[in-house]
Amino acid sequence: MNLINEINKLKKEKDVLILGHYYLDPKVQDIADYLGDSYGLAKKAMDCKEKIILFAGVVFMAETAKILNPSKKVLAVTMDAGCPMADMINSNDIIAMREKYKNLYVVSYVNSTADVKTQSDICVTSRNALDIVRDIPSKYKNILFVPDKNLGSYIIKKTDRNMILWDGFCCVHNDISADTIKKAKEKYKDSVIIVHPECNSKVVEKCDFAMSTSQMVDYASKNTDKTIFVGTETGVLHSMKKYNSKVYSLSEKTICKNMKKNTLEEIYNTLDKEVNEIVLSNEVLKKAYIPIKRMIDYTEKRNSQ
Ligand code: 13P
Ligand code: SF4
Repeated sequence: MNLINEINKLKKEKDVLILGHYYLDPKVQDIADYLGDSYGLAKKAMDCKEKIILFAGVVFMAETAKILNPSKKVLAVTMDAGCPMADMINSNDIIAMREKYKNLYVVSYVNSTADVKTQSDICVTSRNALDIVRDIPSKYKNILFVPDKNLGSYIIKKTDRNMILWDGFCCVHNDISADTIKKAKEKYKDSVIIVHPECNSKVVEKCDFAMSTSQMVDYASKNTDKTIFVGTETGVLHSMKKYNSKVYSLSEKTICKNMKKNTLEEIYNTLDKEVNEIVLSNEVLKKAYIPIKRMIDYTEKRNSQ
């Protein structure tokens, strides 16, 4: 059986949009209708006209798609693809923090569960976090940022906004060592180092630019003559190399095993049987929509200015 042909057949028959993240295995990236970073994927899900969204990514991304477009059937390729960082905080933790700190404004990185989003004031992604936090009204004396302490520290540095940081992190990004940057620069002294802001602060301090995955792809497309070293999951190199062959990984070990659970076999089975449907209660759908929609409204308004 040719899995790619079969998936394409099912896609047509069932009126499906396949959304995929840049960290997927290259073969899986190639069958997606749209590839993007967390923000781009959320926006695409919100505007989707097809009957079914098949989400190849991690589960919080599929949940976000359902929250933004609840009348669609949203399928996660596999429910086994979690994001360990998203599970480092739950909604009760936020409720407890609200009791401890009065007048608390809660900013949730989109890498969080739907439940955590129900207790949040606004969401951010790596693409819009700096602008959103910078513009939080100054009347909020206490800002809590969850769950990623690395992204949070980067935002504090760049915006000068004081934030309380949750002690979460992405083990995939946190493990990249600053030494890899030194080695890259020794090998190619004119190379540019771009990293994801989920990397630890020693890496982010030494890089040339921190950015989201789709911004990395965009950077490669606009800088086709530069040697670029990338500090993020290695999957993104597949899309970057379409524009620039001189793109390297700071560390080949930077692999998100959860993203890699989205195989062609799983995609075929999920589509065929229409399993792994994202089901959220009406209350969660309604409450979690508020911070995500706030983020989208803010970002789209800014993009149109
Ligand atoms: P992006 O939004 O930059 O694609 O990042 C998502 C993610 O999970 C990074 O680990
Ligand atoms: Fe989560 Fe890290 Fe994988 Fe991104 S790379 S999905 S933050 S575990």
